[in-house]
Amino acid sequence: APINVVIITGSLRRDSLTLKMAKALIDLAPPSLKMEIVNIGNLQMYNEDLEIPFPPEEWVIFRERIKKAGAVLFITPEYNRSLPAVLKNAVDVGSAPHGQNVYKNKPAAIVSLSPGAMGAFGANHHLRQSLVFLDMPTMQQPEAYIGYSGQLFDDNGAFIQKSTKAYLLKFILAFDRWIEIQKVKS
Ligand code: FNR
Repeated sequence: APINVVIITGSLRRDSLTLKMAKALIDLAPPSLKMEIVNIGNLQMYNEDLEIPFPPEEWVIFRERIKKAGAVLFITPEYNRSLPAVLKNAVDVGSAPHGQNVYKNKPAAIVSLSPGAMGAFGANHHLRQSLVFLDMPTMQQPEAYIGYSGQLFDDNGAFIQKSTKAYLLKFILAFDRWIEIQKVKS
């Protein structure tokens, strides 16, 4: 059966380049990966008080969704050389309450992108730091710091450059193998 891969994106913007990247990667993915974008825009800002007497419905649904997933693909822009707060909030909501981290052992990968030259390196690595703590086996190579994201897609959301498409295909196939390897290990 295909592996269910949850995609979490770090932008809520309607015309988000990150969302375009998510859709393009869904199109590139092999049949062995069933990729779905999950909404994080409705998650209340994490506050431990809200866990009691019972957590917000949106948190419960989100946590269940991650728990059921075989893997998680994070796709993010960079805000102020770090990850956007909305994405950090999704990381925090899924990690809590203490001892019930739903991200644990889920194979993960990160694609970061920016209209600038540096490909959101800062966001990618700040996120990576949290995933280490959350005990997610996160693919290390190949890396995806995609620069000049404003010039990646045509009006239909397809990659303009063959080389970008080829690189991201390589990335997603490597992630597919990475997920397989983690399954064998566990
Ligand atoms: C940005 N942007 C940005 N870009 C970057 O490469 N490094 C950065 O540190 C920042 N910082 C930043 C802060 C804030 C508050 C905003 C709103 C934007 C620009 C950002 O990369 C650009 O807006 C992207 O297009 C955002 O991604 P989406 O929404 O297109 O997916």
